[in-house]
Amino acid sequence: MYPDNDEYRLIFNQRAGSYHQAMIDCPFARDPEFQAMAEFAAVMPGDRVCDMPSGGGYLNRFLDPDADIISIETSYEFASLAPPRGNRNILLCEFDNIPLASDSIDKIICLAALHHVIDKQPFFNEAFRIIKPGGTLCLADVQKGSGIVDFLDIFVDQHNSMGHQGHYLDENSGTELQNAGFSPVAAVSKDYGWRFDSLPEMGRFCKMLFGIDQAGEDVVLEGIRNYLGTGQDGRIWYMNWGLYFLKAEKPARTGT
Ligand SMILES: C[S@@+](CC[C@H](N)C(=O)[O-])C[C@H]1O[C@@H](n2cnc3c(N)ncnc32)[C@H](O)[C@@H]1O
Repeated sequence: MYPDNDEYRLIFNQRAGSYHQAMIDCPFARDPEFQAMAEFAAVMPGDRVCDMPSGGGYLNRFLDPDADIISIETSYEFASLAPPRGNRNILLCEFDNIPLASDSIDKIICLAALHHVIDKQPFFNEAFRIIKPGGTLCLADVQKGSGIVDFLDIFVDQHNSMGHQGHYLDENSGTELQNAGFSPVAAVSKDYGWRFDSLPEMGRFCKMLFGIDQAGEDVVLEGIRNYLGTGQDGRIWYMNWGLYFLKAEKPARTGT
């Protein structure tokens, strides 16, 4: 039995603490991923942007400081862990019921979340509602058929007592976006590394981030080596990672 949509939301209420601790202990590990997302989304000063789900608000420091960033979370635990940005509290809601006005947002960024959501269509529909005409939805997530799938659905699944079975971005994702009304703008796979000062740090980070409660750091490191591969550049250790980036635009209104 694998977790379903709602179970994943509840699982993140339990996993949030160790996920957030991993991000605090190694705050720069995923910088290449956040940089890739920020570059892809191209947030401009004055943009009104939703980072959804924001986890602990890790992407904030990569986005234009003069943009209005609204952090949105679906898990109460994550929402309570995240530091408020300025005087703005994090918004807690469901993917398909976002308490924001229609046509009010320039960009929605959704990083590393949708593989936990079986039916993505209600989120795409709701995103389309709140985005302004001419605004964009920017997604980055694991792509079906990529090497990361086996790491998550075999290795993590085997060693996380809550299991892991993802629902990855694939050829249907573009169709679902179009069904919501979006026009596809870009689709690209980006490979990069997560970076660490040492191999034990890499094992510890992944054990906490992926909620691996049934294996020690050494076994986790072995899993990373076998399924993903690692490398070294000077004093920095990398583990191979990469996501599929999709951008879709809400067409500008034309005519009368
Ligand atoms: C891997 S975290 C990503 C957080 C952040 N974007 C990041 O890159 O660190 C996955 C997020 O998706 C949310 N989530 C996972 N499954 C969900 C589901 N089925 N419904 C709603 N939210 C879900 C969790 O609350 C969590 O914030």
